Amino acid sequence: LSETDVATRVVRWQSSHGRNHLPWQQTRDPYRVWLSEIMLQQTQVSTVLGYYARFLERFPDVRALAAAPQDDVMALWSGLGYYSRARNLHRCAQTVVNEHGGKFPRSAQVLATLPGIGRSTAGAIAAFCFSERTPILDANVRRVLTRVLGFDADLALSRNERTLWLHAQSLLPSVDIDTAMPRYTQGLMDLGASLCTPRDPACPQCPLQTLCAAHREGEPERYPVRTRT
Ligand code: ADE
Ligand code: SF4
Repeated sequence: LSETDVATRVVRWQSSHGRNHLPWQQTRDPYRVWLSEIMLQQTQVSTVLGYYARFLERFPDVRALAAAPQDDVMALWSGLGYYSRARNLHRCAQTVVNEHGGKFPRSAQVLATLPGIGRSTAGAIAAFCFSERTPILDANVRRVLTRVLGFDADLALSRNERTLWLHAQSLLPSVDIDTAMPRYTQGLMDLGASLCTPRDPACPQCPLQTLCAAHREGEPERYPVRTRT
């Protein structure tokens, strides 16, 4: 195939059109990246910004957070919603301090054993902070990848979900991993947030358009396929 691959296109597009000035992109400190990823799981960027700054001012590192009374953590989280995130955040900080010597694990596989860190969040932290060659598959990225691949197996079935993870792994950058992994990971998130939206995706502006199965078929909104369970 003479066409540039998916990873190369995503990396290039991220550099010129993606988000590059968010506060959690100015660091590879896993504590800061982890905090941002947990906050961003169910909350939009504009809301997270203020909470993120206040959290880091009060709890500048994982030891400060682990040592804090739970009420202080909950008070700073108040208004962000999904409060199990805050309880898991506190438990996770305590686990990092008590079982990992105060250092976040450097692999996605071990990160995913911590409270509140699922497989995709673990992948994001490992890619952003340590350039691990490991995929993410949050809701935005799942939409982008199922469309590009024309992957229409029912994601309500765990074996299909596992197959999609394998596809996500096979699409990862294969050269210049150290700079490419953070950019690629952010680029997939940015594509899903800005162009490859649930309704009326902006295919004419998308760097993946000429490779995209869903665009070729003419009905990208059909993806991802998931029956109700
Ligand atoms: N949502 C989840 N992770 C994000 C990130 N790193 N940047 C922007 N939005 C996100
Ligand atoms: Fe999404 Fe359209 Fe890009 Fe395909 S071409 S990835 S459907 S925005």
